[in-house]
Amino acid sequence: MLFRQYFDHESYTYTYLIADPDSGEAALIDPVQDKTEFYLQQLGELKLTLAQVLDTHTHADHISANGLLRERTQCKTLLGVESQSTCVDRRFTHGDIIEVGALRITALHTPGHTDDSYSFHLNVQGQDYLFTGDTLLIRGSGRTDFQNGNAHEQYHSIKDILLSYPDTTLIYPGHDYQGRTVSTVAEERAHNPRLQVRDSNAYAELMAGLKLASPKMMDVAVPANQACGQSRV
Ligand SMILES: [Fe+2]
Repeated sequence: MLFRQYFDHESYTYTYLIADPDSGEAALIDPVQDKTEFYLQQLGELKLTLAQVLDTHTHADHISANGLLRERTQCKTLLGVESQSTCVDRRFTHGDIIEVGALRITALHTPGHTDDSYSFHLNVQGQDYLFTGDTLLIRGSGRTDFQNGNAHEQYHSIKDILLSYPDTTLIYPGHDYQGRTVSTVAEERAHNPRLQVRDSNAYAELMAGLKLASPKMMDVAVPANQACGQSRV
């Protein structure tokens, strides 16, 4: 597998490039609209064909590059069935397989941050990878107080689905605000402060106490992400 992790300094978003070197087919997970030219240059330099853009959920803090990349490369855009976006060629549901050349990505419905939140699992040569979007962050988790978020659901998504993978599974989150790039299931189970609670009620209490400000781009990003990157404001 050819794998790259890109960072957007404006929104602290991680974008992942996953490609099958034999076929030259590539997918991008959570690309940011402002970095479209950068991705196209990277794909060109690596001699890859962008086949698919996957978004883990409808983002409130940045505009997805999915619409623009589709225009420029004729790639397919994918989002979960729960998403309200009109910019979707294929809607995946829990357990669906997304093929990128010989690579097989499994979509995992992990609601809680939003109702359309998914994680992606991949096993390459015995190594498990989880791309957790904003469901599970390194030593944190995505907020659950808007976009049909639900802390109880998020607790179960993390505990019952994501942490059920082997201890050595690599966790690649949708954001990090402190420069951490990757973690593992064992590390998060032991050290993620949000996960040291006894049940979903205690988790919901912890999340309700966070009192977070709205993301500065929310009023622009959510409508734009439902309309192929076209901002209506
Ligand atoms: Fe998010």
